[in-house]
Amino acid sequence: MSEVVIIGASFAGIPIAHSLLKDIPSIKITLINPSPTFYFTIAAPRILAKRDAFKSEQYLLPIEKEFSRYPKKSFKFIQGRASAIDVSAKTVSIDNNTRTISFDYLVIASGSTTASTIEKNATPIPFKQSGSNNMKTLIHNAQDRINTAQNIVIGGAGPIGVELAGEIAEAAQLAGRKVNITLVSASYRILPMLKPGGSMAAEKFLLAQGVNVLTSRKVTGAVQNPDSGKWTVTLDKDGSKLDADLYIPTTGVLPNNDFIPVEFLDENGWVVVDKELRVKGRGRSKSASLPIFAAGDITNNSMRLSFKAQEQAAVLASNLKADIQGRGGKRKAYDQGDKIMMVVPVGSTGGTGLIFGWTPWSAMVKMVKGKDFLISKAQAAVAAK
Ligand SMILES: Cc1cc2nc3c(=O)[nH]c(=O)nc-3n(C[C@H](O)[C@H](O)[C@H](O)COP(=O)(O)OP(=O)(O)OC[C@H]3O[C@@H](n4cnc5c(N)ncnc54)[C@H](O)[C@@H]3O)c2cc1C
Ligand SMILES: *[C@@H]1O[C@H](CO)[C@@H](O)[C@H](O)[C@H]1NC(C)=O
Ligand SMILES: *[C@@H]1O[C@H](CO)[C@@H](O)[C@H](O)[C@H]1NC(C)=O
Ligand SMILES: *[C@@H]1O[C@H](CO)[C@@H](O)[C@H](O)[C@H]1NC(C)=O
Repeated sequence: MSEVVIIGASFAGIPIAHSLLKDIPSIKITLINPSPTFYFTIAAPRILAKRDAFKSEQYLLPIEKEFSRYPKKSFKFIQGRASAIDVSAKTVSIDNNTRTISFDYLVIASGSTTASTIEKNATPIPFKQSGSNNMKTLIHNAQDRINTAQNIVIGGAGPIGVELAGEIAEAAQLAGRKVNITLVSASYRILPMLKPGGSMAAEKFLLAQGVNVLTSRKVTGAVQNPDSGKWTVTLDKDGSKLDADLYIPTTGVLPNNDFIPVEFLDENGWVVVDKELRVKGRGRSKSASLPIFAAGDITNNSMRLSFKAQEQAAVLASNLKADIQGRGGKRKAYDQGDKIMMVVPVGSTGGTGLIFGWTPWSAMVKMVKGKDFLISKAQAAVAAK
């Protein structure tokens, strides 16, 4: 009977737990996550901009309930935060080391966060799960902030920045409210990972919605006045300043790694894994394999997308099952490939993207994602069905 501890219950951690429970009746799984609910992050731009678009039950889904179909003794959910890993003792400490649990195998699936999610001095804009059980309040406060700001500066014109700008502009328009949104893009065209036609389409939609698009400019600083709550955002080159009621940075993702031994991390803080998704300790001999795996955003696989996290979960689960059952032979390998697949709605009526090298029609983007931000897929992500 093997004890498997999984840290993080999201696109990667949840399907791994289901897969092991389904195929190994004698297994014991402990799943650790700071909140009892899974957050459907994909819909965050719409959730945050449009208070009434969804009910909270649609994007905050109970995790433990989906595991009630397995024997009680096989599965345990711990609401908490992993705070340390002791590799030689094979233990994980939880909640500032107030409790410790043992593992035979460990899975790290703690994912990533964004700067605005963990903002300490201003209202956080939770694009990702926070580190505690406070998502409803955080989302509610962010919705209030976004819905009352008249001047909004969004830093970064990747998919999150563009989607958010489109949603906020549309929400204001529907409410008959004036909002002045400025999207700052470091690259000379927004959504630089798309074909030029995709970037042009997105810019056209945003301009039609009255969004100001600044290209080839970088935000070099953003300061909030503690009294007025207003922001001053500084740009590179001439140091010009933008005044805003709200500044939302959307660039970059940060690893949730504060509990992970540094010997597992690359220079940017991501967990180094091989193709089998085994964690590689630095300074360890190549042959010494640890009973530790990782999947999803936290790994050094650079395509940090939910469907990539799910693909990794399947590879990891297969290899871990083979290890647990003492099966020899070939292991599954994960290769992220080099094809970008991306659908970027700009408001509920259109958008752009890149699918198998093609820029999709706006009507198709609406049909695939714009109409509901894939919210109907949230339940399946937790149930792994
Ligand atoms: C706004 C936004 C929109 C996105 N849209 C898309 C999209 O349309 N399509 C797409 O493919 N991808 C999208 N992504 C990317 C996608 O959200 C991520 O790739 C995906 O969430 C990664 O899943 P994960 O399970 O690896 O990690 P995460 O989803 O980051 O989950 C990690 C989990 O681990 C928990 N955790 C962290 N630290 C600890 C700890 N110490 N102890 C215990 N638990 C811990 C976290 O609370 C969280 O529940 C989007 C991301 C954002 C931010
Ligand atoms: C852990 O410690 C930090 C810093 O002291 C504190 O902010 C946090 O609330 C603590 N978490 C728990 C779960 O006790
Ligand atoms: C909109 O915001 C930008 C950036 O802060 C500012 O330069 C511009 O003057 C504002 N426009 C209006 C009409 O307020
Ligand atoms: C992650 O790091 C390992 C070890 O350096 C390397 O072999 C692997 O190619 C890296 N993964 C990616 C996707 O770059």
